[in-house]
Amino acid sequence: MEKRIGIVFLAGLFLFVCLAGPAGAEKNFVIGFSQATTTEPWRLLFNKELRQEADRHPEITLIVRDGTDDAAKQAADVEEFIKMKADAILISPKVAAALTPAVNRAFDAGIPVFVLDRDLINDRYTQFIGGDNKLIGRTAGEYAVKYLGGPGKAAGNVVEIWGGSASTPAQDRHSGFHEIIDREPGIKMLTKPNDGDWKQDKGYEIMAEALDQNEKIDLVYAHNDPMAYGAYMAAKDSGREKNIAFLGIDGIPEEGIKWVHEGILTATFLYKTPGDEGIRQAFHLLKGGKIEKRVTLPTMTVDKNNAEKILRDNGIIK
Ligand code: FRU
Repeated sequence: MEKRIGIVFLAGLFLFVCLAGPAGAEKNFVIGFSQATTTEPWRLLFNKELRQEADRHPEITLIVRDGTDDAAKQAADVEEFIKMKADAILISPKVAAALTPAVNRAFDAGIPVFVLDRDLINDRYTQFIGGDNKLIGRTAGEYAVKYLGGPGKAAGNVVEIWGGSASTPAQDRHSGFHEIIDREPGIKMLTKPNDGDWKQDKGYEIMAEALDQNEKIDLVYAHNDPMAYGAYMAAKDSGREKNIAFLGIDGIPEEGIKWVHEGILTATFLYKTPGDEGIRQAFHLLKGGKIEKRVTLPTMTVDKNNAEKILRDNGIIK
C-alpha cells in the first residue's frame, strides 16, 4: 500500500514538473489560432509566419485550426478554444457577421482575442491587426486613374472582381477604389457588385462573363492576386489579354510580384500577413505588457519599376 502511494506521489510530482517546467522557467501559454482557410498561398504564408514567430518562444503552445472556408466550422473551432480555456485566441474570420458572436463569447469569457486581417461587425475583442484596406483600395484607384489618362482625363472600361463580399477587406477595397474612380466621368464600370470569394477560378468565371458581354475592357481591378491572375487567364483564352491592365492585391513575391515581373499583372498592392505580428502582440499582452486596440500594417505599390528588385532581394531571381 505504502509503495503504491509512493508511486502515485512520484507520478504526480513528475506530471507537476512537466507542466510547470523547471523551477524559474516561464509560464506556458496556450494560444489557439483559427484560420479562415488554407486554400490560397497568402494563407499558407500567413500560417508559416505565425508558426515561425511562435517557435521563437518555448513558452507558447500553439494550436492551429483550419476553418476550411466554412463559417460554421470556424465558429466551432473558436468554441473549442473557449472550452479548453486557451490563454489567448487569434482568429482571421472568413466573414464578419457570422463569426462575430463566437468571438464576442470568447472575449466575454475573459480570453484575450486578436482579430487578424478581416474584421468583425463590432469591436468586442482585444485587438485588431491588419492592413488598411480602404487605403489599398484608394491607392489602386489612383493607379487606375493614372493608367487610364490621369485625373480629370481618365477614360476607359473597368471590371471589378470582388473578394468575399461578406468580408471587410472586400468591402473596404471596393469603397476605397470607388472613392477615387467615381470622380472620373470618363471611367465606366462594367460590372455590378459580385463575389469571387478570393478564388482564382471564380476570377476566371467573372472575367469570362465580362468578356462575353463587353467588346472593350481596359482595366481589371481584382481584390486579390489569384483572382487577377484568373481574370488574365480568361482574357488570354479569348486572345484579348494584351490590351487590358490587371491590378491585384497581396504582393507575395512568389505569386503576385512574380506575375508583375512576367508582365501578367500591371501592378499589385502589398497586403502583409498579420501572422507574426499577431503572435508578438498576444505574447506581449500575456507577459503583462500593454497593447493598442488596432495595429495597422503597411502597404506599398509593386509594378514594373520595383518588382525585379524585390524578387532579387528575396532571392527569387538572380
Ligand atoms: C486569402 C485572402 C488574400 C486576401 C485576404 C483578404 O484568403 O483572400 O488573398 O488579401 O484573404 O482577407
